[in-house]
Amino acid sequence: MSTTPPSKVFIKTFGCQMNEYDSSKMADVLKAARGYEQTQELDDADLVLLNTCSVREKASEKVFSDLGKLKAWKAAKPGRMVGVGGCVASQEGDAIIRRAPAVDLVFGPQTLHRLPELIDQTQRTQRPAIDVRFPEIEKFDRLPEPRAEGVTAYVSIMEGCSKYCTFCIVPYTRGEEISRPLDDVLAEVDALLAQGVREITLLGQNVNAYNGAMGDGGRCDLALLLHILARFDGLGRVRYTTSHPAHFTDALIEAYGAIPQLDNQLHLPVQSGSDRILAMMKRGYTQAEYLQKITRLRKLRPTISLSTDLIVGFPGETDDDFEQTMQLIQLAKFDAAFSFVYSPRPGTPAANLRDSVPADVKQARLERVQAAVRAHGDAFAARLVGTVQSVLVTGASRRGNGQLTGKTPCNRAINFDGPAIGGERLIGQFVEVRVTDSLTNSLRGDIVVADAALMS
Ligand code: SAM
Ligand code: F3S
Repeated sequence: MSTTPPSKVFIKTFGCQMNEYDSSKMADVLKAARGYEQTQELDDADLVLLNTCSVREKASEKVFSDLGKLKAWKAAKPGRMVGVGGCVASQEGDAIIRRAPAVDLVFGPQTLHRLPELIDQTQRTQRPAIDVRFPEIEKFDRLPEPRAEGVTAYVSIMEGCSKYCTFCIVPYTRGEEISRPLDDVLAEVDALLAQGVREITLLGQNVNAYNGAMGDGGRCDLALLLHILARFDGLGRVRYTTSHPAHFTDALIEAYGAIPQLDNQLHLPVQSGSDRILAMMKRGYTQAEYLQKITRLRKLRPTISLSTDLIVGFPGETDDDFEQTMQLIQLAKFDAAFSFVYSPRPGTPAANLRDSVPADVKQARLERVQAAVRAHGDAFAARLVGTVQSVLVTGASRRGNGQLTGKTPCNRAINFDGPAIGGERLIGQFVEVRVTDSLTNSLRGDIVVADAALMS
């Protein structure tokens, strides 16, 4: 009896953690509904999915250059299919097919659960299948049970964004904010903990606007959700990303004093230090208000790691505006930042403003921002040397030298020697590690306390 080998899917992800999460869900949906195996080899694949990002022009254009290359790949073997998901798909819809006729499937961030139906439709009709709607929260109801891979996992708790910052495309491509009901989130966390997960990252484009329905008719905000999760046995650490300063509420700040499992790291995008530019971006806070919030946070967590997003060269940004951003970096002491040159996005309000800042000035500003943040980052890492950190052991070190790797409470990777034999028994445990060295992207340390039985 001959059996047909399973079809294979190759998924390429652009952009943010939301997209990484969505890509893993695409793989889950295709596996559960049609038995697709995931492959890292393009030539082995029957289906290629590009999970795209349109937040800046460069990422968006890269998708079309990839699609150009996929024409030959598709022609090389009958039955091969190409799908485009994510934010470019959402923004462009059927225009993608006109620009890249090799594309068979176009689906948005909120319709990825419909991939099996879209595949059937295109195979049946021999025409491209397109679905880029925002059918509310249907996506979550139709995803298969989460599968844990390792001891850390993501849980998406809300979708979309209703902030409409004037530079940003996300509200148009991912739709308005919509929160998952509390019970659904808790059930997913439960399922992951049962599979050995010890650290959960709660995900959302604007995650601290979470407002999930509760069984009793009330609503649950992020602070309350964190308090509820803190009582879950086995959940050693909880994180969330990405949050908006305007929703960084008193209750959320106070959670850092009350919940030891809450990560000692916060990503709080500020974008600019100039009140004038912040108003033009429609961010809804001033530099002083942002600083007040983090001052209060640091009273509760003096050693917290703080990272941010910064945009330079927003239309009309003067030297003085930019110096305000540099001042903010010194005052806030960000130890990491994603920093970007402003990229006009069609359809956003800021795209209609005159782009007055010359390209070389933008580039010079970006370099100054990056150097200032790097200096704080280096100082932060140097301060960790000599301290003892509670490290969640996530696996064997990638260097293959018998070392273990893990994550500190401030979410830094740390490598250290495990016991001579059976180090894998420590995976999923929290162990005390003294930091001995800070390298560019990781730390090195020595284990100081571990369960005696585990170390024997
Ligand atoms: N909440 C989002 C997140 O979790 O990533 C933030 C929105 S966006 C996807 C990520 C970052 O991209 C923003 O914080 C902002 O700094 C940057 N960004 C968004 N639109 C941009 C644009 N038009 N030009 C340059 N950078 C942009
Ligand atoms: Fe974009 Fe502002 Fe929302 S940066 S994702 S519109 S908070």
